[in-house]
Amino acid sequence: MPRSFDFSTPTSTGSSPPSEFFEGGVGASSFVPVISTLSAVYSKSALPAQEQRWGSLVASFKRLYPNEELTFIARSPGRVNLIGEHIDYSLFDVLPMAITQDVLIAVHVGGSEGKIVLNNADPRFPTRTFNIADLKDTEIDATVHEWSNYFLAGVKGALSLNPLAEIPSMHCLIDGRIPTGSGLSSSSAFVCASLLAIVTAVKAAAPGSESFANAVTKPDLVQSAVVSERHVGVNSGGMDQSASVFGVPGHALRVQFYPELKATPIAFQADEFAFVIANTLVVADKHVTGPIHYNLRVVETTLAAEILAKQCGLGPLPIRDGFGGTLRGVVEAFKVRGVDIAGVMDKVKQVFSKQEGYTLAETVQLLGQSEIEITQKYMTRFPVRFERFQFRARALHVLEEAERVKKYCEMLNHAPAEHGDIDGEEKYLRALASIMTASHTSCRDLFDCSCAQLDEIVSLALANGAYGSRLSGAGWGGATVSLVPKDKAVEFVQCLKKEYYLKHFPGISEEKINDAICITEPALGSAVVVGNYSV
Ligand code: ATP
Ligand code: GLA
Ligand code: MG
Repeated sequence: MPRSFDFSTPTSTGSSPPSEFFEGGVGASSFVPVISTLSAVYSKSALPAQEQRWGSLVASFKRLYPNEELTFIARSPGRVNLIGEHIDYSLFDVLPMAITQDVLIAVHVGGSEGKIVLNNADPRFPTRTFNIADLKDTEIDATVHEWSNYFLAGVKGALSLNPLAEIPSMHCLIDGRIPTGSGLSSSSAFVCASLLAIVTAVKAAAPGSESFANAVTKPDLVQSAVVSERHVGVNSGGMDQSASVFGVPGHALRVQFYPELKATPIAFQADEFAFVIANTLVVADKHVTGPIHYNLRVVETTLAAEILAKQCGLGPLPIRDGFGGTLRGVVEAFKVRGVDIAGVMDKVKQVFSKQEGYTLAETVQLLGQSEIEITQKYMTRFPVRFERFQFRARALHVLEEAERVKKYCEMLNHAPAEHGDIDGEEKYLRALASIMTASHTSCRDLFDCSCAQLDEIVSLALANGAYGSRLSGAGWGGATVSLVPKDKAVEFVQCLKKEYYLKHFPGISEEKINDAICITEPALGSAVVVGNYSV
């Protein structure tokens, strides 16, 4: 028998952030909200389109399962990163924000006995069925690129939170609207939504349970999703899951990983600007290119940290998630020795004096560990392919980018009050945006994670009125984010349509262009929405 839950008094509406957000971080007790109205999830401008989309999702669910009640919908959004690229896995702060585009998983708790059936509204992703009895022992095969691996990662995350959890039968319909491989973190949104769906279903099915509220706290959801997403074969950091779960409407999120996870919402104190996301439409599949792109960068930055510690006599570094030392660990170790960040950058240049990079044999010498040891520790779970490690350029990017995040956050915290007029605000916005452009330059030149199309959009953006522009997310394709004057935003979008999309993709539909480029605003993070929601 389907069970109904009364959510007439939701635990949180989600429309205004819980107070602990403004007290310097996200409290350990803040549960993922259960929401009963779409207006508590989406902004006014996004609501009409979302109402329609949710309506179609519910209708499709009813077509698939005419006799089943929709128990709840788990939702987690994508994110755009304003500043702080490829530094989360070195444990430096980053500044993303959640976006409107999200992954929804409509769930009926019950259905096919002992099974989870996964349907996807996107025909690229065929239906999959899992035996619940096998889930505890299921190993995710990271060598294959299989969409349901991201769901299984969510299952693993849920079981890591409660190994004794009794997962009930579930019928699920997934509707993700974050373009995949576009730097807007469709993967983490999907993993977080999956994990949330499982823990909520477990709570809903528990004997005597009268509600599925408070199934998981936000920090637990983030931490387990971060670790479990790595099962798909990408050694990612924690930025995407943090933004997806902790997102607060109208705020960017300063996410700190050191000494522990903390997310602090920061309001924008200027008004006359908009963020525009423009997707290159170059798909950057991190799972597929991991060995030469993402996972290789994690190895390069980790080995750079270990070598600096060894060469500068810093002693063993704290290990991040069982993988290796971090550049944050190096900075902290130098700090207690009275060496500031400029001093650390000098050490990087001294220790890694070879601009052309380092072979594995040279790395063996620098680190004082054998080739077998290095390969086993750093390159086996996440295999990589390389000729030379670029320790110098990668480490300098990370340290400089971490400084840019600090400066950006300081500027956000101290608003243009000292300017006070529109000219002042423009000056302020230009200064803020120039930090973003500097980040792009560094991603392109030092971290080598840009591509011709990203560079082209950034140049077009700067030439057409953006105050600043940069790639966002992992790079090697995917999206850009530009800070533009509010009154020029619509014109700016039109201009990129003509100069980039229509030029490179003649005949592209208006719908595809509108999916690729949009004015965005910071959105609410993960939520559970009741099956009988209202608008
Ligand atoms: P980035 O990590 O750079 O921000 P991303 O998360 O979109 O971008 P990937 O980490 O490579 O890119 O993850 C993309 C993969 O996530 C897809 O290939 C697909 O397997 C999975 N995925 C994302 N959204 C969905 C969805 N709605 N349905 C099925 N699978 C999805
Ligand atoms: C991906 C990863 C994140 C982060 C970014 C780059 O999105 O999932 O952890 O490393 O790339 O900043
Ligand atoms: Mg991803």
